[in-house]
Amino acid sequence: MLKGKNVILAPIKKEYIDKFLVWLNDPEITQYLTIYRPLTREMEEDWYASLKDRESDIIFAILIDQTKLIGNCSIMNIIWTDRVGTCGIFIGDKNEQGKGYGTEAMKLLMGYGFNTLNLNRLDLKVNDFNSRAIKCYQKLGFVEEGRMREATFVNGKYHDQILMSILQKEWKNTKYE
Ligand SMILES: CC(C)(COP(=O)(O)OP(=O)(O)OC[C@H]1O[C@@H](n2cnc3c(N)ncnc32)[C@H](O)[C@@H]1OP(=O)(O)O)[C@@H](O)C(=O)NCCC(=O)NCCS
Repeated sequence: MLKGKNVILAPIKKEYIDKFLVWLNDPEITQYLTIYRPLTREMEEDWYASLKDRESDIIFAILIDQTKLIGNCSIMNIIWTDRVGTCGIFIGDKNEQGKGYGTEAMKLLMGYGFNTLNLNRLDLKVNDFNSRAIKCYQKLGFVEEGRMREATFVNGKYHDQILMSILQKEWKNTKYE
């Protein structure tokens, strides 16, 4: 359990599946993610069952007010020899977006990645139209290191995907407001 001022990162519980099913079947949320197929309870239950065996993926539930689930965040595809991992996040509860929780959750996740896992590099890909996420990552010290041209097709159009990253030494020098 990782505790911030307003946000807790906690292990995923099976009972969270109900909310994940709603959020991850909502195109307003999935336009920013890599999910496009309808997600069934059976698929989510399989995903939940697979968590315990995933040695290269670490996934947290994002909670506020101690127990209220609002989304999840993760470091995926960790390569332990290279000490790199890829971050992912969504705040599925739309009423709780834009309140600073995503930034705080990412800050906790980065602290875990660098200080606990001793990763050297965290990266992520973000769709070019996802201004809120880009702002959030920039505030946290991620820098753009490349643009994958027309790499994703969303809402009837091709969009670039921006590759961003931060290194452990840069994170250690980051002064958050
Ligand atoms: C991206 C996401 C994690 C950000 O978390 P959040 O809690 O909603 O955002 P925050 O409140 O922490 O705000 C981040 C920054 O973006 C700014 N912001 C908010 N809405 C914005 C918008 N529409 N355009 C540009 N910036 C915006 C905020 O003002 C804030 O900057 P500030 O603190 O300097 O004011 C969250 O909105 C989300 O999960 N979105 C849907 C899924 C998604 O996009 N996941 C990321 C995939 S790469």
